[in-house]
Amino acid sequence: MDVVILMGAPGAGKGTQAMRLSEFASLPHVSTGDLFRDNLKRETKLGTEAKGYMESGKLVPDALVLDMLFDRVAKPDCAEGYILDGFPRTLPQAEALEKRLAEVPDASVQVLDIEVADEVIVERASGRLLCRSCDSIKHKTFSPPRAEGVCDACGGELYQREDDRPEVVSERLAVYHEQTAPLVGYYDERGLLARVDGGRSPDDVFASLRGLYRRRRGA
Ligand code: AP5
Ligand code: MG
Repeated sequence: MDVVILMGAPGAGKGTQAMRLSEFASLPHVSTGDLFRDNLKRETKLGTEAKGYMESGKLVPDALVLDMLFDRVAKPDCAEGYILDGFPRTLPQAEALEKRLAEVPDASVQVLDIEVADEVIVERASGRLLCRSCDSIKHKTFSPPRAEGVCDACGGELYQREDDRPEVVSERLAVYHEQTAPLVGYYDERGLLARVDGGRSPDDVFASLRGLYRRRRGA
């Protein structure tokens, strides 16, 4: 089982790259942020519990995240592996994943860290557009849709995320540096980490990620 973890600050390009890698590797893209947004949209109990944390840029408590994530990766489409985007984000989440994968005899883990300077993050978040129907990601300046407000992939409505307001982006960045960035060292110590310069074009970033993914598999 191949498990790829895409790490990086908010707006680093995890979602953008995870979708491409998912297609390339034929593994499902599992984004905890997308799963929470789906729960918010459907007004589930979990969505209601997560809402306040997400809108203020804080992390949702580990227990809620872990139950949701482990339910998702237990589905049959994840049997051969999956690409994680936005998980793990805290040390307890990383330890819980490690413990779970220790029970899977053929599990191989690769962590790809997309590095982007903080100044770039704010610019990316403030222009981001998301599709309400298929979660496609665009940007007002860097990857504009062909028709304004309309998803190129499925024709759905494009919207801006509530937590992409500048004050919330600053909080998300602070939370990232405090709680998530230490995981880079955690995975580096285990020999699982590779770094990629995320400040380049999406195509160049993907070429690096794809190369690292293939090299790891000896392909
Ligand atoms: P989540 O949805 O995971 O948000 P995030 O980590 O803050 O990351 P983003 O989705 O903002 O950025 P991204 O790296 O995916 O960038 P993207 O590809 O979209 O989490 C949201 C919230 O949910 C959290 O704050 C928390 O409350 C909760 N949550 C989720 N998981 C959790 C967990 N495990 N534990 C606790 N709480 C959790 O790109 C950004 C923009 O830049 C786009 O417009 C894109 O078009 C553009 N772009 C991308 N790449 C490039 C490039 N190379 N050049 C130019 N533009 C680019
Ligand atoms: Mg994302």
